[in-house]
Amino acid sequence: VKIYADGAVIEDMLAAYETGFVSGFTTNPSLMKKAGVTDYVAFAEKVVKAIPDLPLSFEVFADDFETMEKEAEKIHALGNNVFIKIPITNTKGESSIPLIKKLEDKGYSLNVTAIFTTKQVEETVAALNPDVANIVSVFAGRIADSGVDPIPYMKKAVEICQTKKNAHLLWASTREVFNVFEADRLGVDIITCPPGVIDKLKGVGKSLEQLSLETVIGFNKDIEKLGFS
Ligand code: E4P
Repeated sequence: VKIYADGAVIEDMLAAYETGFVSGFTTNPSLMKKAGVTDYVAFAEKVVKAIPDLPLSFEVFADDFETMEKEAEKIHALGNNVFIKIPITNTKGESSIPLIKKLEDKGYSLNVTAIFTTKQVEETVAALNPDVANIVSVFAGRIADSGVDPIPYMKKAVEICQTKKNAHLLWASTREVFNVFEADRLGVDIITCPPGVIDKLKGVGKSLEQLSLETVIGFNKDIEKLGFS
């Protein structure tokens, strides 16, 4: 599975890029808000300039399809490595599939996002143009957050994406390092990870004995500051 970095803090993105460990980047409006981005275009242009050779996904902000299309044009013009993120629905629950088809006909690379259901995966994959690279983002972590096992959904999504050339399945809303191993086992193409998970990937391969020891050493360091009274 390819590992992407999920976030909108430019310093974190550049640090991840420099490690050579990640194969691409994803952002979303909530991550941009959290990172304090105030000028979308300036932010996106800065990222594209700094990272010209890996896939970057930038999301449209509009909620009506006409404005979404205009924003999609601007995002597409940012660079050859840019994927336009289109949510599978707007806030009214209207399907984005007609817009997705329109943009696919133009040969634009999309990252169709906020996908949860198998029906959404089927409709998205059916609308994709096999001649251009596309990403299908299924929110496995948010499915799990709702108390539902995401694995059967991801398995089915792998099968559906394999029916269309260039439809790359992405495991979104990653919660823990183990998700990377699950995604890999299922044959998911990409998993996008927040900085915390990328950091923790460094702990992979340590023995459980070592982890036990490191845990106690961590507690012990904090005890030094607290004292026993
Ligand atoms: C990635 O493309 C998604 O926007 C992101 O993984 C969503 O993560 P979240 O569910 O933790 O907000």
